[in-house]
Amino acid sequence: MDALETLRQQHVEAQAAFGQIKAAAQRGRATTWAELQPKLELHEQIEEHFVYDPVAADAGSSDPVLARWEQEHEEQVREANAVIARIAKLDPMDDAWLEQVSALGTTLDAHIAHEENDIWPRIRVAWDQGKLDRAGRQMAMAKASVEKGEPIEEAVAGAEAVN
Ligand SMILES: [Fe+2]
Ligand SMILES: [Fe+2]
Repeated sequence: MDALETLRQQHVEAQAAFGQIKAAAQRGRATTWAELQPKLELHEQIEEHFVYDPVAADAGSSDPVLARWEQEHEEQVREANAVIARIAKLDPMDDAWLEQVSALGTTLDAHIAHEENDIWPRIRVAWDQGKLDRAGRQMAMAKASVEKGEPIEEAVAGAEAVN
């Protein structure tokens, strides 16, 4: 799978998990969130590290939207992380918890739509298939390391060397 196919699959999985949380009983939703939250973090990290950062460097002045996106993305991730920190302080049994998780889901829907509809088509122009495939292999490697228990940052840094 190339990098954008990998990321799209993760978007589908994340959106399904938000749907499950909204439909679940109070007890079940905490478990689904506990599984989803580190996956969201890994997703945003690999997206930034293996695609948005290098593509911004490559795009340079030829695509100012891509050149700027890396920064905008970081800001959006920071905002999402602030909501995640708020969620961590709430009790999953309370309505306020579900309100915050639902709000995060809505924000991420817009984030995902912008990535898929506005940003990724530009990436497919800026990068050839070889670069997308390589980034896809780096992502797979980082994900495998995280699944073996390695912290996200180390897993991402370690996958840099994959060719
Ligand atoms: Fe993102
Ligand atoms: Fe994404």
